[in-house]
Amino acid sequence: VVGVAGSGGLRPAIVFTGFMGAGKTTLAREVAHALNVPLQDADALLVEALGTGIDSFFASHGEAAFREREAALVGELLERADGGVIALGGGALTSPRVREALRSHIAVLVDVDVEVAWQRAHGKGRPLARDRDAFVALFDAREASYLEAADVILPSGTGLGAVRRALQAIQAVPGTPEGTRLLWASAASGEYPVWVGRALLGHQDLPWPLPEGRRFGISDSSVADLHAGRVPQLAGLVEIPPGEAYKTLETAGRVWRALADAGATRADHVVAVGGGVVGDLAGFAAACFQRGIPVVQVPTTVVSQVDSAYGGKTGVDLPEAKNYVGVYHQPAGVIVDTSTLATLPPEEHAAGYAEVVKTALIAGGVLWDRVSSGAPVDDDVILACARTKLATVAADERDGGRRQVLNLGHTIGHAIETVTGYARYRHGEAVALGLLAALTLSGQDDLRDEVRALLHGAQLPTTLDPSIDRDAVLRATAKDKKRVGETTPFVLVDAPGQVSHGHHLRPDQVQHAIASLDGD
Ligand SMILES: NC(=O)c1ccc[n+]([C@@H]2O[C@H](COP(=O)([O-])OP(=O)(O)OC[C@H]3O[C@@H](n4cnc5c(N)ncnc54)[C@H](O)[C@@H]3O)[C@@H](O)[C@H]2O)c1
Repeated sequence: VVGVAGSGGLRPAIVFTGFMGAGKTTLAREVAHALNVPLQDADALLVEALGTGIDSFFASHGEAAFREREAALVGELLERADGGVIALGGGALTSPRVREALRSHIAVLVDVDVEVAWQRAHGKGRPLARDRDAFVALFDAREASYLEAADVILPSGTGLGAVRRALQAIQAVPGTPEGTRLLWASAASGEYPVWVGRALLGHQDLPWPLPEGRRFGISDSSVADLHAGRVPQLAGLVEIPPGEAYKTLETAGRVWRALADAGATRADHVVAVGGGVVGDLAGFAAACFQRGIPVVQVPTTVVSQVDSAYGGKTGVDLPEAKNYVGVYHQPAGVIVDTSTLATLPPEEHAAGYAEVVKTALIAGGVLWDRVSSGAPVDDDVILACARTKLATVAADERDGGRRQVLNLGHTIGHAIETVTGYARYRHGEAVALGLLAALTLSGQDDLRDEVRALLHGAQLPTTLDPSIDRDAVLRATAKDKKRVGETTPFVLVDAPGQVSHGHHLRPDQVQHAIASLDGD
């Protein structure tokens, strides 16, 4: 994580890291070109210093000897760098000297999907890209160290134009509070910075999106006093009552009228300060007001920091069904100040944990290992959840395919919320029950037991209140907004990291999954 400047007053360089095949050198070249500075490509410098190709050095001297030379050369390169742009080889971060030297610079992780990396890297004579299983194992082994070192994450598929557009935000990283990380989110209809860190609200050097125009806050009455006041330069604040019961068209109407009364125009924007209810409602209100004004999301709950603030889905509930009216409206930016969670009540932390478990099941890999080992929801877990969600949305903004996996546990979860009038369970609590039902549907008994233990340990419900009408829950699943034909598609899990969507199941199977929530 970047310090103030390199040792001896040297300026931080922008250093691209990531697995082989991520496209580091191409993006680094683009940035060097945009900044009009030379690119230092560590692998090219190594070839020069070794006097032979990397593969032939590997073959004659072995990997250990290569890593030794690499650590010395790259360590020195980083220790001496004064600004500029550097691309590192995929294995450079295995060296402690390199990791230490990188701390003085802006480390940009070029994220890549393992499948894409394999397609690009194999068959090109690379010594570590010959055997697929070994390649995947290496990818998994290195993921944690890339994430740990990264100040900036560019999701898989970030193109040359996007990296240029991200440049201003990347260059602003050294001025932000220590430990702040930047994710550059891309979706079909927009790109935006996601800042994750502590004490970001009110920090002078944090580059707020949309510095021009007036900024209107929207918050609920519990969060407004606690956190909205720290958003800089608010021209006004619209308060709504807290709770899912107010995520309605009536509340959106109140917000529109308040914005109109304040004279808001399309040159202005709103800032949603609160949990998922505020984010969904304010995003929807912004999308419709004068046919669309920008929204900046400032999430203050675990649910919103790990999930709902990203991806542009906004909307309100109807008494008939959850999230039935809404639009896609990507935020202009997301500012995740994790210190706002200090005031969040324990039950709300617990509710957010259900979304963390869901995201870890979807992601598999490092995130699942961490969450399943019982790790607390810290800044790293929040960042990892955001990364998973953003990668999914980047691949499929409008729920046409892959994005549907994010609904894991939500079909039965939403049905439970609807039949209980959005009052008996928090969203996250209903998702906890929905996850267990989804694992029953998936036939994953052992994984279900593991997830149940995690949810139970976080004080989340793992059995459905006996007074709730099971048949009504079954009927409500059929009204889910994801239904396209006769039945609602479900998301099923084969293993952590292997989640698939679009499964049409028989009513008796769904009934069995709901009955599995009766308890032992
Ligand atoms: N759009 C999406 O992609 C998406 C994804 C997941 C969930 N959601 C939606 O998110 C909503 C649930 O979000 P939620 O769980 O954040 O609920 P919420 O917004 O109702 O917040 C929960 C409670 O915590 C309070 N609160 C918020 N921040 C606080 C803080 N820092 N300190 C003290 N109190 C605080 C709120 O006033 C509220 O009473 C649901 O409506 C769900 O449908 C949307």
